[in-house]
Parts: sequence; structure tokens; C-alpha cells
Amino acid sequence: MFEKVEPAPPDPILGLTETFRDDPRPEKINLTVGVYKDDQGRTPILDVVREAEVRLAETVTSKAYAPISGEPAYVAAVQDLLLADGAALAAARAEDRAVTVDTAGGTGALRVAGELVRSTAPDTTVWLSDPTWENHTAVFRASGLATSTYPYLDRSTGRLAFAAMYEAFEKLGQGDVVLLHGCCHNPTGVDPTSDQWEHIAALLGDQGIVPLVDFAYQGLGRGLAEDAESLVVLARHCPEMIISSSFSKNFGLYNERVGALTLVCRDAGTAGAALSRVKAIIRTLWSNPPTHGAEIVATVLTDPTLRARWEDEVAAMRDRIRSMRRLFVDTLAAKGVTRDLDYLVAQNGIFGFSGLGADDARRLRDAFAVYVLDSGRINVAGMTPDNMDRLTDAVAAVWVS
Ligand code: LMR
Repeated sequence: MFEKVEPAPPDPILGLTETFRDDPRPEKINLTVGVYKDDQGRTPILDVVREAEVRLAETVTSKAYAPISGEPAYVAAVQDLLLADGAALAAARAEDRAVTVDTAGGTGALRVAGELVRSTAPDTTVWLSDPTWENHTAVFRASGLATSTYPYLDRSTGRLAFAAMYEAFEKLGQGDVVLLHGCCHNPTGVDPTSDQWEHIAALLGDQGIVPLVDFAYQGLGRGLAEDAESLVVLARHCPEMIISSSFSKNFGLYNERVGALTLVCRDAGTAGAALSRVKAIIRTLWSNPPTHGAEIVATVLTDPTLRARWEDEVAAMRDRIRSMRRLFVDTLAAKGVTRDLDYLVAQNGIFGFSGLGADDARRLRDAFAVYVLDSGRINVAGMTPDNMDRLTDAVAAVWVS
């Protein structure tokens, strides 16, 4: 059996993290995988998470299985957070047209969404932005769906290629799912403006295209409510929507694998049927979800004091990332990099799309022990005041030579 197994290539993101771990050079800097780090270069456990864990240790009395769709308190907390604003989302909730399940991280939500779409409309193509998160193509293909790409980034300016994207959407219609990054686009950090969201949503609605929103970074772009603007606008125009969300980043719960899949449907009957299908899919994947992370999230989001403290912690992460972005660009300029890097400052969330190429990335790795993705994506949240000097020396050396 196993002699016939074709070895798989290393994962473009997590594979590099493994290489980084094995790199013996003490000065190494990791800007690959999208995890938040503080000024000391640690990925901290949020204070509210610690406090919730203490409370849970004292109050949880059983480790019995959770329902397939997750604990109801968590499911309600997710909806309260995601669907908080806008009349269209409120109506979807009030009319029982929105259903949510607990998933193993955002990736689990995407995979379940893929399985759901294939089970009901196997000829669907999932349209992904060019570029997109490396795992998107693999997840949907693993679900048996075709994928294709639409223009997203204008590489000459580092800005959104809005006209080209819009034109591509005009050619799509029923039977197409368009994956949009709700905020903090991964890998580019380039998000549509409010006005552009309005145009995208209206077009998708008119053409009968279903938006699948990957929403993994809420709060790390402009703010919790501001980042959810995409959902509000899309719900106004599109009667059906799929949302994959995650608490890896904004709760720092990376290794608890806590995410959610939310479907907004046309009516309650459809929503009930879709939920039953989603539960059947989950039963064959992880049967029912792990609950520790979900219990933490529900504890924090439903306690007004903890919730307020969590919002402060998210704001502090957001502000630190923004200040590192600015410092990176200013330090490069001070070191003689003359190219216009304003696009990097304008980008949103934890990623910056640097414009470095695969050869640059290799050189940074080999010569300077600085790890960035071959696509040129850098995890801005991995920058610290302490590593900035060495990091910018390396990037300047690559860019100037
Ligand atoms: C990333 O893009 O680095 C994160 O979403 C982590 C991952 O699983 O790839």
C-alpha cells in the first residue's frame, strides 16, 4: 500500500515554518505563518482567555460530546459577533434564515462549505482572488469542486485591481461561488473600500453569484464592527451567503482550532435543510467539535466585562501591527530604499505584500535567516522593535542590490 504513495510537496506556509524551526542560526526571523506576536516576539495567551480558562476549570463538570453543530452558547455568541450590524443580517437572524455550526478552525469551515456546495451543486466553480491564501485551492479541490481565479491585485501599484475584478465578476452567474476575504485580505492586505464593497455586493446580487466570505481576521484591520462592514453590505444585496470565520487570530486560539461556518439562506426551510446537510458532513469529518476553545470564546463574548477587555486586547494587537508596518517602511527609507512603499502602509491586517519575489525570499532565507513566503507575503505581526534593524538591513540589501 504505502510503497505507492506519492510524497506530497511541503506546505508553502507551514512547511516553511518547519524549515525555520530547524534553522540553527540564532538571529533568524520568522515572518511566514500568520500568527500574532507581541513586542517580545511571543505569541501571547490573551488575558481574557486565561481568565475564561480559570473560570471554566472551576465550572465545567463534564467532557461529554457536544452536539454535532457545537454548543448552543458558542453558536449564539458567533452570530452575535458576526451578524451584529445591519438590518439585512438582523432580519436573517430574526427569520431563522441564518445557521451557524462550530468548526475545526476557519479551514474546517471552508472544507465543510466546499463539501456542502459539492453535495448540492457539484458543477460549481469556486472563484478565488489572484493571489489568495495558499490553502484555498487545495481545500476546494479536495472537496471535489473546480476552482478558478479572478484578478485582485494590481502588482504594478500594490493596490486593488478593482476594474479588472469587477469585469471578471460580470461574466459569472448562477453556479458560481466567489470567495471574498471579508477583511485583511490574505496574502495582500489589500481590501476594497466601502464604496467598492457596495459595487461588488450589488453585482453579485444581480448576477445570482453566491459570496463565500473568508472572515478570519475580524478586528485586526480597522475594528471589529468596521471589519464586518463587508458582511453587512453583502447581506443587503445577496439572498444567500456563506461565511467562514475563525477565532485563531483575534482570540489567539490558534491551537484550539475554533471557527464557525455560517450560512445565510433565503428562508427558514432552506436554512434547516442546509443545516441538516452540514451536520451530516461534519459527522463524517470530526463527528462533533472539540469544545474547549469554543467555551472560552462563549465565556468571553457573553460576559460584558470580559468582552470589553477582549475588545481592548484586540485593539492593542491591531495598533501594534499598524505601528510595525509604519516602522518597517520608515526604517527602510532611512536605510536608503528609495522605492515608494506607501502601498505597504495602506495595507490592512497582519499581512503585507512586499513586492519581494521568490528569488528575493530565497536570498533572505539563505543569506540573512529572514523567512518570508515565496509569494512575497510578510507577516507584519512578526516584526518587533528588536528585530526591525536586522530585518530591514536584510530587505534593504536585497532591494538595493
Ligand atoms: C496563514 O495564512 O499563515 C494562516 O492562515 C495560517 C495557515 O494555516 O496557513
